Amino acid sequence: MVGIRNSYEKKLIRASGLIAAKALKRSLEIIKVGVTGLEVDEAVKRTIFKLGGDLSYKTVPGYKWATCITVNDKVVHGIPTDRKFVIGDLVSVDLAVVYKGWHTDCAWSVLVGHDPEKQKFLQAGEQALWDGIKQAVAGNRVGDISSAIQSRIENAGYQVVRSLVGHGVGRSLHEDPEIPGFGKARTGMPLKSGMSLAIEVIYAQGSSEVVLGDDGWTYQTVDGSWGSIFEMTAIVGREKAEILTDWRPIVG
Ligand code: MF3
Ligand code: CO
Repeated sequence: MVGIRNSYEKKLIRASGLIAAKALKRSLEIIKVGVTGLEVDEAVKRTIFKLGGDLSYKTVPGYKWATCITVNDKVVHGIPTDRKFVIGDLVSVDLAVVYKGWHTDCAWSVLVGHDPEKQKFLQAGEQALWDGIKQAVAGNRVGDISSAIQSRIENAGYQVVRSLVGHGVGRSLHEDPEIPGFGKARTGMPLKSGMSLAIEVIYAQGSSEVVLGDDGWTYQTVDGSWGSIFEMTAIVGREKAEILTDWRPIVG
């Protein structure tokens, strides 16, 4: 079960989140036509090491990359490959950092080029993430986060993937409770101030059914429709959640 982080622990997990945010920002800056997932993975790894962090995914047996990178109909847990990005690719980068024993986890999705339909798809995922995070306050329950995410995704005409969920995070990459992106408000575990959660929006344009690919890691949509992920680590607060992995305000 995810613990209640005291002020000393918060300092450490914040530092971990800042490294993750910087690595995520770096990855998003370099995604463009002709660049490969392996190159993005390498840049993320270098950034994390330079900032004194380590790769949290090393704690997943058999997984040896810094990131998961998924394109188009691939949804999550994609192994970075040497395929070059092309115009129209929807690219998701998921990464996690461990710093002084504290894990943080985050993911973002971007489009290579311009395409109003795909931009609308990404906007719904991002907005669902902020909606979910807004519910991460003491007195609410896990289901309040889940239902906020589900409403935003479904109102935009998309589907939340059922088989992959958010989670507590901190002393290890995955801690209880699970935080689904679908569910009923006012149900599930009560949220307490100081819990650190990886809130994840994992969704698809068409069917939300996913299958595991031949590489044994990558989940893809069964119908070939787009899938993306938006994820942030946040600490439940009394009035509002504190987001630890937000890459947007970082300068430089
Ligand atoms: N960030 C992913 C999650 O929270 C973890 C990926 S583990 C990997 O589910 F081994 F697939 F990389
Ligand atoms: Co996660």
